[in-house]
Parts: sequence; structure tokens; C-alpha cells
Amino acid sequence: MKISVIGCGYLGAVHAASMAELGHDVIGIDVDEVRIDTLARGKAPFHEPGFDDILQKNATRLTFTTDMSVVKEAKVHFVAVGTPQASDGSADMTYVNSAIEGLLPFISEGHLVVGKSTVPVGTAERLSEQVTSTGAVLMWNPEFLREGFAVQDTLSPDRLVYGIPEGDSGEWARATLDALYEQILATGTPRLLMNFATAELVKVSANAFLATKISFINAMAEIAEVTGANVTQLADAIGHDARIGRRFLNAGVGFGGGCLPKDIRGFVARAEELGVGQSLSFLRDVDAINLRRRGRVLEMLVEELGDLTGKTIAVWGMAFKPDSDDIRDSPALDITESLARAGAKVVAADPAALLPAQRRLAQSGLSDSISLTDDHLVAARNADALVIATEWKQFSTADPVVVAGLLATALVIDGRNCLDSDAWKKAGFRYRGMGRS
Ligand code: UDX
Repeated sequence: MKISVIGCGYLGAVHAASMAELGHDVIGIDVDEVRIDTLARGKAPFHEPGFDDILQKNATRLTFTTDMSVVKEAKVHFVAVGTPQASDGSADMTYVNSAIEGLLPFISEGHLVVGKSTVPVGTAERLSEQVTSTGAVLMWNPEFLREGFAVQDTLSPDRLVYGIPEGDSGEWARATLDALYEQILATGTPRLLMNFATAELVKVSANAFLATKISFINAMAEIAEVTGANVTQLADAIGHDARIGRRFLNAGVGFGGGCLPKDIRGFVARAEELGVGQSLSFLRDVDAINLRRRGRVLEMLVEELGDLTGKTIAVWGMAFKPDSDDIRDSPALDITESLARAGAKVVAADPAALLPAQRRLAQSGLSDSISLTDDHLVAARNADALVIATEWKQFSTADPVVVAGLLATALVIDGRNCLDSDAWKKAGFRYRGMGRS
């Protein structure tokens, strides 16, 4: 089947290449010429394991362009543009609105528009009026991919969610998307049919639940810190209860990235618009706990070292999570900037996120106090303390004896609770974890 994917950011680019991997002919469209040029050359514009492989392998089935009119060659159009956070916390719908407007002149009866972007509940209903005015049909098919596992999550998802209109057009939309996803469905992937509002809510409520789970364990870390309890042991123990589960119970400096933080804020903003803000008021606490844990690293360093002016702090990690070069709302970057603002000299290391971090620091005006390297051992040299801000494998498996020999002071703040605390203490470190000592 010939399809188009409007928006070639993280979600759209991976979706386009994955659909080509399933055997479809795909046109990827984006307004960003540099991105389109990179993708057309078979290169990934971001760090994502396995993505280059499927891009190159399916090059003959993939076309990337900035020319929207090419969509008329396709019958199914995925809308995968971003919905960044607006200044008031709500989701900025500019890109979704312009993608739909850009599509309208080229679609008619027999065309299916499939929304994949994360949108405020009620959006699909509104957009459906525009789409159906051309004779085409709209459905909503949210995406749950995680960075670092994006290809796997797209090709082998936990479930497929179809938000469809009532009646014959909904039935036709279901059958069309079923044909497109035939290979995924053949493996027994659950496919859930629902109305637009439910499909939109499934996506934001899944992210809200995950964020809540992380902030719950981080709240327990705060209690553990004043009681002498160990939050990792606590998470292991409660995680054995299948109703709770151990995943997403890792305490630390909390969640970041392009989805969880902005999605919970957008969800709160939408609930307020709908007059049910109280229902989601707890998400404000989820957000507050999360941001507090970033600040806790600075507090711990001041407890240990006193005034940070002139102190050198090594920070391992810039990306919001390992196996990613994404620094959007990254706790690591936030911590680095707050240390620099407190007068410290920061040497930060990340194996993948240096370029985006450099660009961002140049804008922050803090680049004089922060230097970057891709070698974590170089960053550790002569530092007064080490902060682990992202749990890259090479950081969690570093030899503490070697690291102790590099630092001026053997002090480590394990912001991701990813180190073997006994081994680091044995190597002579003063070890401070997040909710564990
Ligand atoms: C998330 C959702 O998982 C995904 O389903 C959705 O489509 C997009 O948003 P992603 O942003 O790629 O995916 O990252 P995720 O793996 O969920 O991690 C989010 C953040 O939570 C990271 O900063 C991570 O370090 C943090 N985290 C995760 C914790 O602090 N503790 C945990 O136990 C798990």
C-alpha cells in the first residue's frame, strides 16, 4: 500500500521506516529541509538503535520530501507531527492544525487520515469535521513508542489502539488499517476499537500513569532519606506484588524527555479547560515531586562540600535517559545548569548527546562554566565530586577503583541509583544515592 507520513520527527521518521519494513511504499514529509535531506541519504537524524538499519534496508520503498503535494499519490496519511508544550503548559496544536490544513487539498473519498500525534482529548472530533468535508475519513491511532526501543515498539507494540468514527466509515477505517498492519496483527497483537475521545485519552493517561509511578517511588525516596530506609529494597519488595509490578519503580532524578513532562502538563491544562481540573490536580504533585528530585542533587552536594563556588563537579550523563541523544527536559542537563548557576565548574560527559547539549548550553549563557566531553573518565579528572545523572551502561559498570584514582575527592552522588553502592564504598567513596545510602 502507498502511504504518506506527515512529520518526520522521532515518531514520524520511525513510523515511516517501520511501515516500509512491513513492505509498504512510504512518502515521508516534513518542513525541515535538513532533516529530510538527512533521512533521504539513509541517515538517522537522532540516535536510535536499529533505525539506520531499517532506513537503509528499505531505501527503495522510502521517499522523503518537503513537498506536501506528493501526498496525493498515497491513500493513507499518517499525521505524526509534534505537539510541544506551549508557554501556558497546554499542548501547542500549531503543527497538527497545519498538517491537516496542508492535507485537505489533496484528499478525497477513499483516503484515510490516521492521527498518531499525542493530542488533547477532543482534537480528533474537531479535525474529523474538516477531514470528512473532503469525503475522506479520520481515525486516531496513538503511538506508545519509547526512545531507545522505537523500532521494536512500532513493529511489535503491546497493543494497537484504533479510535474510529461510528458507522460504516469507522468499519472501513478499521479494515484499511488492519490491512496495513496485517503482519503486526498476525502475531496476536491485541487491537482495541474505541471512539476518538477514548483513543486520545488512552495515550495521555498511559503517560500520566507512568509519570505517577515514577513520582510515587521518588516520593518514597524522600521518606527513605529521612528515615534511613532503602528505596531500592522497598521497590523490589512492593514490585513482587503483580498488581504493582517492579517496572518504572526506579527512584532517582526523575523523568524527562519529550513526552512524560509535557504530556502531564498538557493533560492538566485540558482537564481545566473541560472544567474537571480537580480530577487531575494530583498530576501537579507528580510534576512537583519530579522536579524536586533534580534539586536534591544540588542540596546533597552542598551538604557534602559546602559552598560550591569554584568547586569542580563531574556530571556523567546529559541525555534524558540512556541509549538516547535526546536532551529535551533532561534532568541531567537541568542539574548541570543549576550547578553552574551555584558557582561550580562542571565537566559533563555523555556518549551521544554532546552536540544537542552544546547547542542548548550556548543559548543558556552558562557555557563558560560548563565543559563537555564524550569520555566520562576524562570528566572525572580532578573533580571534587561525581554526579551520575543518566544511567548509561558504561557509567554503571565503571570500575570504582579507577574512578577514585581520577577524582580529587572520592564523593559520588548516584542520581540514578545505578551503581553497586558496596563496591563504590569499598573503593573509598563517600556514596549518596537517591533514597538509599
Ligand atoms: C515515554 C513512554 O514510555 C512511551 O510509552 C511514550 O510513547 C513516550 O513517552 P520515553 O519518553 O521514550 O517514553 O521514555 P521512558 O522510557 O518512558 O522514560 C521516561 C523518563 O522516565 C526517563 O527520563 C527515565 O529516565 C525516567 N524513568 C523511567 C525513571 O526515572 N524511573 C523509572 O523507573 C523509569
